Amino acid sequence: WPVYAQDIDAIMTLKRTRNAVILAHNYQTPEIFHCVADIVGDSLALAREAMNVDADVIVLAGVHFMAETAKLLNPEKTVLIPDTGAGCSLAESITPEDVRLLRRSYPGVPVVTYVNTSAAVKAESDVCCTSGNAKEVIESLGVDRVIMLPDEYLARNVAAQTHVKVIAWTGHCEVHELFNAADVRQLREDYPGVVVLAHPECPPEVVAEADFSGSTAAMQAYVGRNRPPRVVLLTECSMSDNVAVQHPELEFIRPCNLCPHMKKITLRNIRSALEGMRHEVTIDPLVAERARRAVERMLAVR
Ligand code: 13P
Ligand code: SF4
Repeated sequence: WPVYAQDIDAIMTLKRTRNAVILAHNYQTPEIFHCVADIVGDSLALAREAMNVDADVIVLAGVHFMAETAKLLNPEKTVLIPDTGAGCSLAESITPEDVRLLRRSYPGVPVVTYVNTSAAVKAESDVCCTSGNAKEVIESLGVDRVIMLPDEYLARNVAAQTHVKVIAWTGHCEVHELFNAADVRQLREDYPGVVVLAHPECPPEVVAEADFSGSTAAMQAYVGRNRPPRVVLLTECSMSDNVAVQHPELEFIRPCNLCPHMKKITLRNIRSALEGMRHEVTIDPLVAERARRAVERMLAVR
């Protein structure tokens, strides 16, 4: 902790002088999540909270698509991302042209786009969703078929819970695709009684073996509600670290996978972002207008 103290102090001062807030995703490391963040949560909560921020500057401690979403909802505010290389394998898996081609293959079928995409892809979409509201968003459209992109596994996991037919794309999260069903069975053997929670970006066979599946916020809420004495969160590593701080009485088993993109954000580069007011997120206004519509339509559902 002493190595972090100087950066934490500097960030706290900079937040006041810049009139800035820090929004941090649940996958940020504990020293960011617990020591400097003003608002923490899953992608849905961060999008929602971004709308209510009363500050001139938002620093998004998370990945680029999250910073873009904050900018879409706060066009007049300065949104900073501490490392422009903080991407996402899902966002990389699809282009606006791919979406236009899909629309041509399935005329009239609405496009539901996971928030883990670029603003340019959101702009081609009818509505966005997160892992926390995908089922509700899909069912709100009142249709019998949707295109859901870009996460194949999220699409298949949601399809298993709804009567709506889901046409999926082929994107995967490079972190969650590494979990497999055999690992879950081995965990149950090695840690009797363990309660297994899986993020819906995991392959469907992993979700099928789990006791519960939900967004990062839903997993956190499950732990708070049920207090399983022994639990494993099949997701990014910092998630368990952050939840464990809140529940020292529980045993967290930790096979987890690191997201190299989330881990690009550090106290040091949050401090630099605020000192130099870099790196500002900008979105072409024409793209932003259409992308914002898809995000706002989602927020109107849930
Ligand atoms: P959540 O919306 O559940 O926080 O997930 C975001 C994400 O990137 C998971 O990999
Ligand atoms: Fe993207 Fe996966 Fe990292 Fe989430 S964990 S930001 S989906 S690569």
